[in-house]
Amino acid sequence: MANIYLPYGTTEGQTAKIAEYIAEVVRAHGHNAETADIRQAADTIPDRYDAVIVGASVHLGKHEDYVRDFVRKNSDALQSLPSALFSVSLAAHGDTGNAESYVEKFEHETGWRPAHVGLFGGALLYTQYGFLKRHMMKKIASDKGTLDTDTSHDYVYTEWDGVRRFAEDFVNGL
Ligand SMILES: Cc1cc2nc3c(=O)[nH]c(=O)nc-3n(C[C@H](O)[C@H](O)[C@H](O)COP(=O)(O)O)c2cc1C
Repeated sequence: MANIYLPYGTTEGQTAKIAEYIAEVVRAHGHNAETADIRQAADTIPDRYDAVIVGASVHLGKHEDYVRDFVRKNSDALQSLPSALFSVSLAAHGDTGNAESYVEKFEHETGWRPAHVGLFGGALLYTQYGFLKRHMMKKIASDKGTLDTDTSHDYVYTEWDGVRRFAEDFVNGL
């Protein structure tokens, strides 16, 4: 039985939901899993963990700066333990090349090249955005062509089966 740590960054909450879901899958496979919002957790990975899965979401072309800082600070642990990254973005829904380029940028900035990377579609939470953000996101969605533009609804593009497979592949490889 392994102890798996899931530190994550989230701005509107979707990455937190995905981290919780991964933790449930991990537990269903007989391991311990603990999620942690990086903004509220210790800035170093506690040494009781056997493996780490880091999550982050993309805004304006990059992952959260505080996740980048956390990864830089914990690079020794991330290099020595089995580790994985999952990246949450709208690009992961239909624009994989862009989703991959966000991860490449993150790897370049942090020097961490995780052996496992998951690219998961995020959410368009129109009803929760303020006026400007709602209109900006509608414009982006409309330009992409693969995203919904009715701002009276929220849309979740996360494919949970893919998330489950990512979690299972990771634990099966431990
Ligand atoms: C202001 C804003 C900017 C965003 N910029 C991007 C972007 O540049 N590329 C992208 O693929 N997704 C972008 N997204 C989509 C987010 O990655 C998506 O909403 C994701 O679910 C956010 O995850 P979180 O709720 O964990 O923060 C943006 C979303 C918002 C609200």
